[in-house]
Amino acid sequence: MSRPVVFSGIQPTGSIHIGNYFGAIKQWVAGQDDAENIFCLVNMHALTVPQDPDVLRDQTLKLAMLLLAAGIDQTKSRLFVQSHVREHGELSWYLSCTASMGQMQRMTQYKEKSEAQRGEARVGLFTYPILMAADILLYRTTHVPVGDDQKQHVELARDLAQRFNATYGDVFVVPEPAIPKAGARIMGLDDPTKKMSKSAAGSYHAVGVLDSPEQIKKAVMSAQTDSGREVRADPARPGITNLLAIYAAATGVTIEAAEAHFANARGYGDVKKELVEILVETLRPLRERYAELSADPATVTELLKQGADAVRPIARATVDNVKRAMGAL
Ligand code: AMP
Ligand code: TRP
Repeated sequence: MSRPVVFSGIQPTGSIHIGNYFGAIKQWVAGQDDAENIFCLVNMHALTVPQDPDVLRDQTLKLAMLLLAAGIDQTKSRLFVQSHVREHGELSWYLSCTASMGQMQRMTQYKEKSEAQRGEARVGLFTYPILMAADILLYRTTHVPVGDDQKQHVELARDLAQRFNATYGDVFVVPEPAIPKAGARIMGLDDPTKKMSKSAAGSYHAVGVLDSPEQIKKAVMSAQTDSGREVRADPARPGITNLLAIYAAATGVTIEAAEAHFANARGYGDVKKELVEILVETLRPLRERYAELSADPATVTELLKQGADAVRPIARATVDNVKRAMGAL
């Protein structure tokens, strides 16, 4: 058996929060020794909604710094920018000629996002999951670590790969989603019924991974909870359930263990205070390493170039196989 290939992508937009960190980045870092790892800054996905060009460029470099600060190690993993490897756009076209409209119209994230944008939603937003499938399939990926909101998109990549193989012969490796158990879905602190998201407004909505201890404290202490006291995960009490989920994700324990840990808490205030300390300590090394890297952007730029140079031949070989299979080469 050949080594597993892990691929994941993250958009260089908005500020990275603890949902991204526990739901995605932390798992990437932890799994680095067990597989070939390819991590992609998906700036072409970011363009599915309007972006300021200078801001996008800047955020792409900053996100690279953040991932390196979080522990992505270039001796074990490849880190690169999506648009630096033109095969992503190329494969996306061929796949779009195999995907059906019906299949795409079932994508729930598009439905949600496009409703908010009314008639202004871009075609790229609709075909976004095809570009994501291209990202994954280019590298003979076996495992795709993502939060559960992305699971449907990974299923689409599987479906497209299977259908392509059945029609044109075995070209693609069929990938599997790898959904983390704890922290799979961190909710907003201001509204625990909504997913913590990069784009949601409100200063107490999220904890950013680069937030200062004071900012973390303010956001966590003002987190919305109900008027109860008992520290137990319960769908009817989403606020405390979310705090327990964050605690579990940050300390690497189960929700049950988190409940047991707080069995003697006098109320939600105790949970919040301890959670502040844990988050401040968990994020401290990341914040410090990020400050060092930001002082040396040229090195990070060079690293991204090396990452793209290293993965490009794999991507090229896949696209050529696809073109040959389809009769375009
Ligand atoms: P995005 O912020 O949508 O670009 O997501 C980047 C990565 O973080 C993806 O793997 C998402 O599934 C994951 N993610 C985003 N928001 C959350 C959240 N609130 N809880 C857990 N994982 C998340
Ligand atoms: N769509 C993903 C998100 O918004 C990002 C992404 C793009 C991705 N390509 C990917 C994730 C490939 C995993 C694999 O979070």
